[in-house]
Amino acid sequence: MQSPTHITVQGGGPLEGLVPVGGAKNSVLKLMAATLLAEGRYVLSNVPRITDVDLMSDLLRATGCTVARDGLLLVIDVPAEIEPVAPYEIVEQFRASIVVMGPMLARCGEARVALPGGDDFGPRPIDMHVRGLQELGVEFETAHGYIHARAGNLQGARVLLEFPSVGATENLLMAAVRAKGSTVIDNAAREPEIVDLCELLNKMGARIVGAGSSMLTVEGVDSPDSLHSANHTVIPDRVEAATYLCAVGITGGEITVAGARHEHMIMLCQKLGEMGMRISHDPGGIWALANRRLTSADCQSLPYPGLATDFKPFLVTLLASTAGVGIVTENLFSGRFRYVDELRRMGADIRTDSHHAIIRGVDKLSGAPVRAHDIRAGAALVIAGLGAEGETVVSDAEHIARGYDDIAGKLNGIGGKVSYR
Ligand code: UD1
Repeated sequence: MQSPTHITVQGGGPLEGLVPVGGAKNSVLKLMAATLLAEGRYVLSNVPRITDVDLMSDLLRATGCTVARDGLLLVIDVPAEIEPVAPYEIVEQFRASIVVMGPMLARCGEARVALPGGDDFGPRPIDMHVRGLQELGVEFETAHGYIHARAGNLQGARVLLEFPSVGATENLLMAAVRAKGSTVIDNAAREPEIVDLCELLNKMGARIVGAGSSMLTVEGVDSPDSLHSANHTVIPDRVEAATYLCAVGITGGEITVAGARHEHMIMLCQKLGEMGMRISHDPGGIWALANRRLTSADCQSLPYPGLATDFKPFLVTLLASTAGVGIVTENLFSGRFRYVDELRRMGADIRTDSHHAIIRGVDKLSGAPVRAHDIRAGAALVIAGLGAEGETVVSDAEHIARGYDDIAGKLNGIGGKVSYR
């Protein structure tokens, strides 16, 4: 199905009720990549119906796998032989595809992956992936827009990451699973999506300890037969959950984000509490109440367990109408303030200076035609529209479908007035 190109939002009343959160985009894509490690049938549950999953399905198909969806189940059949190539036509559409490199190297001793494209924010190099894999004995050549990675025998090693990169940690983990001896990844990323990946890998026969800490140890399994297929349920999407929590902060109201895991987003809940929201949680989800105008707070994006950079567009949008001045600092990516121009078109008072945004809350945003530059910025404009006066039309909305399964339907379920066009 073609993703809608426009989303229309009528600003209005409070959000009330229960909104379900789907499976995590940033987890499922890596789980899908991990299936390349061993032949067999994998059943993934709680798989969101988003474009990036379709793209990763196409990528797996290009290697020889069969991928079929049944509701929220994804059934992947991985053949005895795979083609270790990630073609440009697919890779250019989403950067997460780079994570097939690790499993392809582990399975086939080589990988040919087109240089990645993806979201429209700043340069996103892969030097840490390359340096880490070189420590495991991988050799790289780049020609004609492709990286050709080759490893005769992957050799376990100690790898110290310069920064806890999510993607580099994932690629290294999946390569190290089949390396000879043990690999230690120091300064590893600690995100819940990494823990989810380690869980699936261990179910498949990998030997990884330390998931969720910054030191991961992988005992390589030497024979291909020691790895096998497995089934897995994708963790809930903390970024989607954050979207709805910030939305209720903007509009006021009382919602429960069903299925959201508080332990994956403690820092965000703490920050929203600091601004005046009431938040509580139980195993069923996160409850949030905003019954007065919130006050500003300073926020900075940091690797997990800090505030996720993916939450930032929602926080900037929220601060655009809170009382006072908030400073938001981006520590991970350059160029991630492009949506600010769109928020300004809606009357927001925001000044940016390199990686800082200074936001003076206004009483009310004003609905306007705006453009989505990427997934999260697009979702932020939708929730901005919910709190604005009048109508907001978000164009280039197909970006949003890369990471949200029916954002309009879900917001309408809690009283929003959102439609596709
Ligand atoms: C993943 C998430 C993305 C999230 C990000 C940080 C997916 C599909 N995407 O992206 O939504 O915003 O984590 O939580 O899971 N860097 C380098 N060299 C490298 C690798 C990264 O300089 O080799 C830099 C990046 O440019 C960026 C920072 O490190 O400035 C963080 O990147 P990383 O953690 O690798 O993010 P991704 O895995 O790309």
